[in-house]
Amino acid sequence: MSAKNIIITGGAGFIGSHVVKRFVKNYPDLHIINMDSLTYAGNLENLTEIELAPNYEFIRMDITDSHAVNAFFSSRPIHGVIHLAAESHVDRSIVNPIEFVMTNVVGTVVLLNAYKTFGHTDQGRFYHVSTDEVYGTLGDEGKFTEQTPYQPNSPYSASKASSDHFVRAYYETYHLPIVISNCSNNYGSHQFPEKLLPLMIHNIKNKNPLPVYGKGENVRDWLWVEDHARAIEKIYFEGKVGETYTIGGNNEWKNIDLVYKLCEIMDRKLHRDLGESCKLITFVTDRKGHDFRYAIDASKLEKELGWKPSVAFDQGFEKTIDWYIENKNWLDHVTSGSYTAYYESMYSKG
Ligand code: NAD
Ligand code: TYD
Repeated sequence: MSAKNIIITGGAGFIGSHVVKRFVKNYPDLHIINMDSLTYAGNLENLTEIELAPNYEFIRMDITDSHAVNAFFSSRPIHGVIHLAAESHVDRSIVNPIEFVMTNVVGTVVLLNAYKTFGHTDQGRFYHVSTDEVYGTLGDEGKFTEQTPYQPNSPYSASKASSDHFVRAYYETYHLPIVISNCSNNYGSHQFPEKLLPLMIHNIKNKNPLPVYGKGENVRDWLWVEDHARAIEKIYFEGKVGETYTIGGNNEWKNIDLVYKLCEIMDRKLHRDLGESCKLITFVTDRKGHDFRYAIDASKLEKELGWKPSVAFDQGFEKTIDWYIENKNWLDHVTSGSYTAYYESMYSKG
């Protein structure tokens, strides 16, 4: 019998590359197809350690191209889909919401339709990887749960909320076997340096200003990316069809405190005077519609599927920083070319 084909979309991005590597290594009996259009955020260098594995295949495809996606799904049996491809950066969504509607909403519906029409839906599922940002913002108290009403505030979160709704609608309307998870902020290796941590690490290395939005008082709940990938693995195989699971690190940090911690650790690792990098902190104009606080109650996932974060934050944080310091070529490659233009357009006005 030939191996089951599982498509992982967005497998060349930050989280997707961790998920692809986990599945390729842990499931030699599954054929893992990484479907990714390689936008600025997609990078095949994230996958070199598995690119020659016999159970791995890369397909360059734009998920909004329904003709190509349908042709692919009808060309061979597709047993399951783990969908991570997305436009993922809030700041970019504020500048260009349409791209977010195209990939995150239209692309998701194209995939749902293809899986419904051509997929072997009795032998797998359609797993939508989503974000806690769909729930909007918290005040000082409380946490998001699976019951929290949707109240997205940014074009990014509105597009992810919309795609979550389409996924649920395919379950209710067509009984497509779906599952959804909504996760908090991830940190770890291979993250594109438009997001807070790799951007700050890159700037500290180069002694450039560290742009903290507003007063830096916004709070995020940080999860080690490998723990997210482990949760995705568990939910794909053991999660209940039609259900949602929230995933988080139980690890809240004010942005400014996290940046201070990062500066201190990097001063030590780069043999600089303690306090040197903190001097680079620059408070800049706040993000429009900036959600104040995110925090996740992941007790459903813990109780029902036995998942909990495995890596203590101090350990994961040090490992992450080491990775960006040691992988100078990776950081140099992704920050060459269009990155400079992006950075100028976002940050030159302070
Ligand atoms: P990323 O931006 O690093 O990667 C996105 C990937 O999708 C890239 O490889 C890109 O090439 C691909 N892609 C984009 N548009 C595409 C298209 N039209 N067709 C095919 N491929 C396309 O994103 P990430 O941070 O790894 O996030 C992955 C998923 O997880 C997203 O759905 C995001 O909403 C969700 N998520 C992210 C976080 C986080 O902290 N980064 C937290 C919770 C959920
Ligand atoms: P980000 O990494 O963009 O993730 P998200 O917006 O999805 O939570 O931002 C994390 C937090 O850091 C968020 O509160 C915005 C803030 N931030 C800055 O202060 N400066 C920056 O340059 C960036 C990119 C983010």
